[in-house]
Amino acid sequence: MPALLLSFLPATFLLNIGEKLNEGKTKQIFEIVDQPGLVLVQSKDQITAGNAARKDQMEGKAAMANKTTSSVFRLLQESGIKTAFVKQHSDTAFIAAHCEMIPIEWVCRRVATGSFLKRNPGVKEGFRFSPLKMEMFFKDDANNDPQWSEEQLLEAKFCLSGLPIGRCEVDIMNRSTVAIFEILERAWATQDCTLVDMKIEFGVNVKTQEIVLADVIDNDSWRLWPSGDRSQQKDKQVYRDLKEVTPEAMQVVKRNFEWVAERVKMLLEPQVSGRVVVLMGSTSDMAHCEKIKKACVSFGISCSLRVTSAHKGPDETLRIKAEYEGDGIPTVFVAVAGRSNGLGPVMSGNSTYPVINCPPLTPDWGAQDVWSSLRMPSGLGCSTILSPEAAAQFAAQIFGLTNHLVWSKVRASMLNTWVSLKQADQKLQACSL
Ligand SMILES: Nc1ncnc2c1ncn2[C@@H]1O[C@H](COP(=O)(O)OP(=O)(O)O)[C@@H](O)[C@H]1O
Ligand SMILES: *[C@@H]1O[C@H](CO)[C@@H](O)[C@H](O)[C@H]1NC(C)=O
Ligand SMILES: *[C@@H]1O[C@H](CO)[C@@H](O)[C@H](O)[C@H]1NC(C)=O
Ligand SMILES: *[C@@H]1O[C@H](CO)[C@@H](O)[C@H](O)[C@H]1NC(C)=O
Ligand SMILES: *[C@@H]1O[C@H](CO)[C@@H](O)[C@H](O)[C@H]1NC(C)=O
Ligand SMILES: [Mg+2]
Repeated sequence: MPALLLSFLPATFLLNIGEKLNEGKTKQIFEIVDQPGLVLVQSKDQITAGNAARKDQMEGKAAMANKTTSSVFRLLQESGIKTAFVKQHSDTAFIAAHCEMIPIEWVCRRVATGSFLKRNPGVKEGFRFSPLKMEMFFKDDANNDPQWSEEQLLEAKFCLSGLPIGRCEVDIMNRSTVAIFEILERAWATQDCTLVDMKIEFGVNVKTQEIVLADVIDNDSWRLWPSGDRSQQKDKQVYRDLKEVTPEAMQVVKRNFEWVAERVKMLLEPQVSGRVVVLMGSTSDMAHCEKIKKACVSFGISCSLRVTSAHKGPDETLRIKAEYEGDGIPTVFVAVAGRSNGLGPVMSGNSTYPVINCPPLTPDWGAQDVWSSLRMPSGLGCSTILSPEAAAQFAAQIFGLTNHLVWSKVRASMLNTWVSLKQADQKLQACSL
């Protein structure tokens, strides 16, 4: 086996490809010597000798598959979704966490099309699912991947890498699929493209026993309709629909793949990035403000801290406010003032930007002090959130309306919170048995 370069490790480190662990229709999985828990996922080179047009088209596809898988997994990973993807290795291979795969394809649909219409006669193409429609299929080539119910999956009593796939695990996969779809749907919407449906697979990380999104997301994993228009579809369906594989037709398929490959990179580019400005009445509230900043950064939002008192230096407070209003960058102010909170209300009465009061309440007078953040004169629209982390989350939700990368972090964090609760409950149940 050739020794290949693994660029996230020191340049002198050579990636030693070991045994082939698995092989399917489109991929081979190799162990990596001295890197337990990691594998190399190699796309099979299906290029068979042919005419120039055919070869051309294959090259387009390889680059497209490369860019799609790495960009999509990066987007999901950076959002906070647990995936097996570690790093792109070459045009056709990436490094991933070694998983035992759960033999189920999870399908998530926003718009009815394809096989759904055949299985549900009477439903017209274009029917919109809200909430999303979930389906699952057992990966069984011999039987054409039959559709399964949750009950069938539970009764199969799969156990992978020591993790029994029961109620809790099935719910986690179901919920994760919805979150993953919504994140990709939002991302594609920035390119005026409808994510129609998607299929994904999960595995159990052999090292951590966690359920993670695994395998790949590529040209074959979804349907994409620019401007929601089926006739402009840019996915593998175009290829399936070809009546005759002519060089001209293949050029169209290739151009479509290039379109996706170009756009997919843009999914990672933020359009408008906003900022949070935390104003504190006194540096004695610094620890509280640092918590807000830390949480903002976790959502990918920059955050600056300023000291100003609306009681003791109102002119200075308004001057600082004007600094942030003057450059057109979307801003959310968070006012941190103990005792009587004049800061947030004064800011709110004088700015069109959202203001969040986040007063650091103390046990002695907190119950009285909080009213200075709650009872406002008419004409003021500031909100009040007591937890510093929650104040940052609310700011992220505001920016998430226009910034899909921030929205995705909020979405993944909600999923992860839900999963933690579910797992905590399961652990408790196991202990009390
Ligand atoms: N991170 C991973 N760790 C271990 N196995 C994986 C990983 N990602 C994918 N696989 C498995 O590699 C095999 C080959 O993939 P593929 O060619 O897509 O197979 P199939 O034809 O069954 O869809 C499949 O069994 C797939 O589940
Ligand atoms: C494959 O993806 C990697 C990582 O995004 C990139 O550096 C490389 O240039 C890509 N190769 C091709 C042929 O697109
Ligand atoms: C996923 O969960 C939803 C909501 O609980 C449920 O209606 C649906 O049947 C589940 N889907 C599958 C495929 O298990
Ligand atoms: C989709 O990409 C894979 C590589 O991941 C490639 O083998 C396959 O042929 C492509 N599908 C089509 C329809 O081109
Ligand atoms: C804020 O206060 C300043 C100084 O009084 C004033 O010039 C400005 O118009 C006010 N802005 C708003 C939005 O009320
Ligand atoms: Mg596959």
